[in-house]
Amino acid sequence: MYRTHTNGELRINAVDKEVVLSGWVQKVRDKGFMIWVDLRDRYGITQLIFDEERTSKEVMQAASELSREYVIRVTGTVIERESKNPQLPTGDIEILVKELTVLNRSKTPPFTIEDETDGGEDLRMKYRYLDIRRTPIRENLILRHQVSMEVRNYLSQKDFIEVETPYLIKSTPEGARDFVVPSRMNKGQFYALPQSPQTFKQLLMVGGMDKYFQIVRCFRDEDLRADRQPEFTQIDCEMAFVTQEDILNTFEGLTKHLLKAIKGVEVSEFPRMTYEDAMRLYGNDKPDIRFGMQFGELNEAAKHRDFNVFNQAELIIGIAVPNGNSFSRKEIDALINWVKRPQVGAMGMVYVRCNEDGTFKSSVDKFYQEEDFAKWAEITGAKPNDLILILSGDTHKVRPQMSALRMHLGAQLGLRKKDEFAPLWVVDFPLLEWDEETGRYYAMHHPFTAPKAESIQLLESNPGAVKANAYDLVLNGNEIGGGSIRIHDKETQSEIFKFLGFSPEEARKQFGFLMDAFEFGSPPHGGIAFGLDRLAAILGGQESIRDFIAFPKNNAGRDVMIDAPAPLDEEQLKELNLNLQIDEADSSIPRH
Ligand code: AMO
Repeated sequence: MYRTHTNGELRINAVDKEVVLSGWVQKVRDKGFMIWVDLRDRYGITQLIFDEERTSKEVMQAASELSREYVIRVTGTVIERESKNPQLPTGDIEILVKELTVLNRSKTPPFTIEDETDGGEDLRMKYRYLDIRRTPIRENLILRHQVSMEVRNYLSQKDFIEVETPYLIKSTPEGARDFVVPSRMNKGQFYALPQSPQTFKQLLMVGGMDKYFQIVRCFRDEDLRADRQPEFTQIDCEMAFVTQEDILNTFEGLTKHLLKAIKGVEVSEFPRMTYEDAMRLYGNDKPDIRFGMQFGELNEAAKHRDFNVFNQAELIIGIAVPNGNSFSRKEIDALINWVKRPQVGAMGMVYVRCNEDGTFKSSVDKFYQEEDFAKWAEITGAKPNDLILILSGDTHKVRPQMSALRMHLGAQLGLRKKDEFAPLWVVDFPLLEWDEETGRYYAMHHPFTAPKAESIQLLESNPGAVKANAYDLVLNGNEIGGGSIRIHDKETQSEIFKFLGFSPEEARKQFGFLMDAFEFGSPPHGGIAFGLDRLAAILGGQESIRDFIAFPKNNAGRDVMIDAPAPLDEEQLKELNLNLQIDEADSSIPRH
């Protein structure tokens, strides 16, 4: 027998019990006549004691040879500790060891297996199985499991059915690049891994499944960031015979349930904000509403004097930093340098100190008067002792710049509290998004999203103004989910494909299956997909999703543990008909 109890289980009421425990050696303290070992497993830590006077010579000897991460089994008696450890659930007791078996030895681990490790990111990833032994990573994975379980139970109870959809498919255009898989049996042809099960879940609605969900892996070949992995998991959902309102209510219900079940937090109704308001007030379509500092647009109140920087700007935005008047000149200069970094890209920043006595002191005193500053304070909501910070420029640049500054200040002032949860629906997204580089419109969400009936007539005259029945769920400044009501008739879908630049032949080639399905009684439908990795990370109080994925990829898309991606050998390439193409592409190789 390997164990009668786990290492997190024994309490004072177990004193005098004979127990068997197994686990990893976390720590050894060897005083010669007495040896203490912390024994660890998934459930916790239990202290073992080997005592010259009460433990046999052989066992004392074996204990003195133990080292970190050895896997051992011990048999012994639970005794009350002389000096108790209130930090540890098992801290009242220890095990007086009678027998010790070394089940496996271990090399010295490359980093310490403690809550705060000395291992850098690369080392932790290379030895991820050791990293997973650390409590913070283990707890993240357990939290993720709890989220999945709650989702499955909640949705099942609401009559949703989990259906699996294929991973070897044809590309679905969701904006990112596809990962592709060569087909051995179909020479020169490739599958694509799904960026999401979007078209399949719509076909399930045509198939009458009515309420579908799937906790599903998705693959996107895009640039990676803290909240993006090339393979990630969605809680993918779709419903038939629903309006946008039905979907928002259903998934607000799910999110409320998760906040309650996982964090014990009760949130009443989720606020809703239009995309336009989010951009105007926060410069961002995923605002963190745990704190204020909303944007005030100052064009009308700041363009009437001789300050050319403002006069030439398309948009002038101010925010009021609460109690910011206490910032020293040096601190303000640091903020100015911060917004001038290339990552933010502002040319400069104007500030106005709001003094306690209602007067102002500003970096543009030369150009403006007290009454101007009073107006700016009114527009930005600044109170005495606040600091107004102002950026100006082209709308599409100055909004993200100010948004970055607002988030930076939010963090600096401790306003982005880990244990506070502020969900928000962002609604009424534009249907289309203009891309400067290619000089054309793209679907902002995806090409299956239904335009709002009242704005579809603008498609030809003012495409950018067409609104969609599309929505995002934002939590603490992160987009945790997004979805839409779908087009469910062939005519509208053809019209949108045509607008997006697909010829009828291309549309048929790529989406013929969907268009065909729409001719066999497609019900009105819509849905949403949550990012499970992001949701777990935010519920765990973090923004990087990497430590909520057991085996993540690094920023270059590599798995440094298994060393993937990797080249294939000649044989395999040949079998997949890939070698030919490579040879042909390389014209420098002489042909015979
Ligand atoms: P969307 O592309 O918005 O919608 O994706 C839904 C959610 O998935 C998460 N997400 C990611 N998480 C980690 N790494 C990534 N690379 C990544 N990309 C997206 C986000 C996002 O909100 N088919 C539609 C959904 C629908 O219309 O029903 C879709 O995939 O949290």
